Amino acid sequence: MNIINAVTIVCFVLTNAVLIYFVIRYRKRSDKDQTSSIAHSTWIEVTWTIIPTIVFFTLFAIGLVGFRQMRAAAAGIREINVYGTQWSWDFYYPANLRTDKTKTSQLKSPTNELYLEDGVPVKFIIKATDVLHSFFVPAFRVKEDAVPNMYTYMTLTPQISEEQKKNGFGVYDIFCAEYCGRDHSRMLGKVTILPSAAFKAKMLELEKEESNVSPAVGAKIYESNCKSCHSIDGSKIVGPSFKGLWGKNEAIESGESIARDENYVRESILQPGAKIAKGYQNLMPPQTLTDSQISSMIEYLKTLK
Ligand code: CUA
Repeated sequence: MNIINAVTIVCFVLTNAVLIYFVIRYRKRSDKDQTSSIAHSTWIEVTWTIIPTIVFFTLFAIGLVGFRQMRAAAAGIREINVYGTQWSWDFYYPANLRTDKTKTSQLKSPTNELYLEDGVPVKFIIKATDVLHSFFVPAFRVKEDAVPNMYTYMTLTPQISEEQKKNGFGVYDIFCAEYCGRDHSRMLGKVTILPSAAFKAKMLELEKEESNVSPAVGAKIYESNCKSCHSIDGSKIVGPSFKGLWGKNEAIESGESIARDENYVRESILQPGAKIAKGYQNLMPPQTLTDSQISSMIEYLKTLK
């Protein structure tokens, strides 16, 4: 980046200096001024071909070194599956991070939350579930397209500096860098780099929460998946507030009155368009939650009186 900046600045200054000089030197002094007849100049053309060629191939070579680092994956590298969905990110971790070795399914962190272990190389295996997205972590200087019908990948070694460790930093933004529809700009996530012990504790927490049904787990899901559209204080954002919602009979778009019960909540999480609350639009993307996560969500809704 610094090299490209330097080359760009030098070229910009030189070009404009010459431009200003020519404007003054060759300005039209009288009506009799005539432009001389100019034929081509071989040496100028050769020069302006060879110099940029050398400059661009040098930039290419430097870029290639960085690109190869992003693509090189050592055998046994930790693989994290990344799924882009309108308009959120989901992350799945290898089953060998489980404490319970009898289970072979991948571990999932809450939507839009990625956890990495300091100093441990990872390979992201990236896919989109609907339209084109692009997985972009500006702080890491990496970006890779998420495509519906193929897997893409990139590798990196996350590191937090000693200074950041002292301050407890190591949290960075995840963006979607491919225009993917209405909420493209809100397709945001956070990546947290954790020291080894904290990372293992986090994985254990995810593992426990999978089978742990409680309002507390539901509250966490609310924070990561629902908060931007559903309030818990009664105020209307994009969707209905969750406050006092549980157990009520309320109208849906067809005019029918429907109980806000287990089945309604489950259906509305998995197929949000099935029954739209009256007065609202069909805007919610389907959520990827497991059965026990949905149960936790229900337990949480019950607490929002
Ligand atoms: Cu996903 Cu833009």
